[in-house]
Amino acid sequence: MVNWDLEKANTVLVVEDSRFQRKTLVRQLKGWDFDILEASNGKEGLEQFERHSPKLVITDLEMPVMDGFDVIRSIRKYELNYTYIIVLTALADKENLVKALEVGADDFIIKPVNLEELKVRLGAAERIFRLQSQDKLIFALAQLADCRSEETGNHLRRVKICTRLLCEDLAHNGFDVLTSARIGTIESMSVLHDIGKVAIPDSVLNKPGKYTKLEFRIMKKHTEVGGQLLEDIYQETGSEQLRVAKDIVMHHHEKWDGTGYPHQLKGEEIPLSARIVSLADVFDALGSERCYKPSFSREKCHDIIVSERGRHFDPDVVDAFLRQEDELWVVLQQLRDSFDGCESEEIA
Ligand SMILES: [Fe+2]
Ligand SMILES: [Fe+2]
Repeated sequence: MVNWDLEKANTVLVVEDSRFQRKTLVRQLKGWDFDILEASNGKEGLEQFERHSPKLVITDLEMPVMDGFDVIRSIRKYELNYTYIIVLTALADKENLVKALEVGADDFIIKPVNLEELKVRLGAAERIFRLQSQDKLIFALAQLADCRSEETGNHLRRVKICTRLLCEDLAHNGFDVLTSARIGTIESMSVLHDIGKVAIPDSVLNKPGKYTKLEFRIMKKHTEVGGQLLEDIYQETGSEQLRVAKDIVMHHHEKWDGTGYPHQLKGEEIPLSARIVSLADVFDALGSERCYKPSFSREKCHDIIVSERGRHFDPDVVDAFLRQEDELWVVLQQLRDSFDGCESEEIA
């Protein structure tokens, strides 16, 4: 049996014009305890999707009224949460399969459907759902830690998306270590960068204006407090994700020239993930409104980041920033807050 233990994911929409194929699939899925929605063409399928928002859709490609490609395109356009889409395809039909993957399908099943294969495909979908809920949990915890510093969830959202854009750019420009799995991990863990702030007293954390030397020393501790916590769990579990999280949390205030904190690491001694998140975090702090400053103009942000190339920031990450500058600004504009929080020392 398929080990399907995620709520809401147990409804499957089957869109298939061949009654025989559809009924065979439905019978098997029902046997595995799925709730089923059925449609005999794309238009009906989309109506069912809009009404019930199933998390999993299995769709044929060639159908009357509306084909599977339009079903996939529409779902990708309107879905609120991620929908896992599996297409049904004939063995010889590689062209349509590639097209379906291009427009947003996640996986495929060759017709006639082999039940063992179906089980494997559903298992893959389940792993994706599990990762998604893990990702949401991490984000929620990071938000919880950040809410004391009056920073909104949008700061974390922006940092997360900017981190992905920088990672993907670097991956396309020679950073082979940034595989898609590694990029996913860095992206997910980026939101934890300030998790250690839970240990900083309110009087320091939310102090408007400049810090005294002592207050700044206390504030800087957030890197070590959070980093050490994650290091301990990493030592226990050996999890690669926790190692990346530890690197980011511990080292996101290090500077390329060795003048950062907590360990004054220099250049490539600083983990790549931390070098990337550092720029994403500072860029967001510069380009967004904070209680002690308005949002800086695009030109001013650009000049500050360029002037810190090889000082605060890794030159390669600055180059990625410059290549992605338009996209990064779109993220900042689209996820702008009416008001951001008070992080007095975060700017370069
Ligand atoms: Fe920080
Ligand atoms: Fe931050």
